[in-house]
Amino acid sequence: MTDLFSKFDPLIQQREALLATGVTDPFSLVMERVVSPTVAICNGRETILLGTYNYMGMTFDEDVIAAGKEALDKFGSGTTGSRVLNGTYQGHKECEDALKEFYAMDHAMVFSTGYQANLGIISTIAGKGDYVILDIDSHASIYDGCKMGDAEIVAFRHNDVEALEKRLKRLPPEAGKLVVLEGVYSMLGDIAPLKEMIRVSKEAGAMVLVDEAHSMGFIGEHGRGVAEAQGVLDDVDFVIGTFSKSVGTVGGFCVSNHPKFEILRLVCRPYVFTASLPPSVVATAATSIRKLMHGSNKRAHLWENSKTLHKGLRDLGFTLGTDEPQSAIIAVIMPDLEKGAMMWEALLEEGLYVNLARPPATPAGMTLLRCSLCAEHSSDQVVEILGRFERAGKRVGIIG
Ligand SMILES: Cc1ncc(COP(=O)(O)O)c(C=O)c1O
Repeated sequence: MTDLFSKFDPLIQQREALLATGVTDPFSLVMERVVSPTVAICNGRETILLGTYNYMGMTFDEDVIAAGKEALDKFGSGTTGSRVLNGTYQGHKECEDALKEFYAMDHAMVFSTGYQANLGIISTIAGKGDYVILDIDSHASIYDGCKMGDAEIVAFRHNDVEALEKRLKRLPPEAGKLVVLEGVYSMLGDIAPLKEMIRVSKEAGAMVLVDEAHSMGFIGEHGRGVAEAQGVLDDVDFVIGTFSKSVGTVGGFCVSNHPKFEILRLVCRPYVFTASLPPSVVATAATSIRKLMHGSNKRAHLWENSKTLHKGLRDLGFTLGTDEPQSAIIAVIMPDLEKGAMMWEALLEEGLYVNLARPPATPAGMTLLRCSLCAEHSSDQVVEILGRFERAGKRVGIIG
């Protein structure tokens, strides 16, 4: 018998070697209690959360929680059914209405996760004989959507407009083409030059999908994302998003103005062949989305936090993923996985949680400590975070 697990041996060995150094496993932390969007108890210690993607801090919003409780009481704990059978409740329609209003678009389709939204939309609209042209650093859900749909995949260098244009020019003019971009790339926290990329895509007759998972609620005048901030939202054919970041719950969606969009509800397998979100989840999502429409003060405070942390970390001597803060993600580049894990642990001991990211999820084989800021982090907390980075960085020898 061939052991089908033998392909994981290199990873098992790498993990064992890392744990043999005595470092805490960075991928099995338990949040024992969550006190607020920015504080939890981990290993019995009060810990500032700086790696949750809870950008707008909606998880403990009073109205959001009240809406969830009410829906739980009125509609029960789950739908036990697909959206196309018994799984569409009033709350799912209200959630889609909130999204249509938030983005000022004609259609909205809610999925059970953002992962499934990418999987479903990309695989359904780009099939055999079509082309998906995507940034090489695209999220796993985008790659998986491409694989499932059987289209030809054409990758181009990260955020390189010329490379995108070149690839597009090589494709048959009559072929169906979908260019897939992200507003914010979550590994380094950098934003895409969407304006130029969408221009070259449209010139080549391609449709454009933009995943705004890490920008919804925060970037753009109305929080609609990077496409809004760059004035090109009207040229985007499909916006993909998630409820697991700024919205503060779980779920995913696609919004669009395409006149035939609604047919997707019948042909999109990751929408049809799975149970719909629980009523409490869609109620919290709808309430949160409506509140995010009026979130400009929170957005301004989040930008302040991002700028302060970026400057502070750079001044301390850390190497960062971007020269300037471009989003609410600030990536601190570590020399290698071992040092990264040591730094991660030292921060945890200081009472600070960040995400450790490593290949293959990261670009160019980098080990990163990814910090994601929240609009609910106070200015004092950001100062405290910098102090903890300084102490841990000196202890581990990352900074002098
Ligand atoms: C760019 C991007 N798209 C999609 C997703 C998937 O979102 P969800 O957590 O809702 O499955 C993520 C999540 O990390 C993401 O970063």
